[in-house]
Amino acid sequence: MSKGTIFISGVAGFLGSHLADHFIAEGYSVKGNDNLIGGYLDNVPEGCEFHQADCNDFHQMKDLLEGVDIVYHCAATAYEGLSVFSPHLVTQNIVTATTGPCIGSGCQRRQALRQLLVDGALRRKPDSLY
Ligand SMILES: NC(=O)c1ccc[n+]([C@@H]2O[C@H](COP(=O)([O-])OP(=O)(O)OC[C@H]3O[C@@H](n4cnc5c(N)ncnc54)[C@H](O)[C@@H]3O)[C@@H](O)[C@H]2O)c1
Repeated sequence: MSKGTIFISGVAGFLGSHLADHFIAEGYSVKGNDNLIGGYLDNVPEGCEFHQADCNDFHQMKDLLEGVDIVYHCAATAYEGLSVFSPHLVTQNIVTATTGPCIGSGCQRRQALRQLLVDGALRRKPDSLY
């Protein structure tokens, strides 16, 4: 019997696919999405329900997150240097792509998102642009 359903955004990426491996081995039902802008379909482990979807598509994310217990949001454009040349793309894939999975999944996690964005931004003291 499944221990619960875990949703992993960016599941075709490095972090997401390893998390999926782990939770499948632990007996959870695992589903996830990726727009394959940077990840590879081959990374998605067997047993993971995969959806090629973009986190910026709020309505699709809301549908995919129906009945999910926990969301691990790993989708991102993880290339620091790119932000200098394509700030819009990077901002969209970090900020907007985060509100889709978090708000789409319900209020409890909306609170977590607020804490992540507000408290994280206030408490951190970055010593560089990145
Ligand atoms: N890899 C690490 O050691 C490490 C350590 C700490 C933090 N992180 C952070 O974790 C996050 C993921 O890192 P990673 O190494 O797995 O990167 P990755 O590039 O391997 O994976 C990110 C995945 O997100 C997908 N993606 C990007 N935008 C998307 C969107 N809008 N909708 C759907 N999918 C989208 C990409 O296609 C890719 O498969 C990044 O924010 C990174 O900075 C990574």
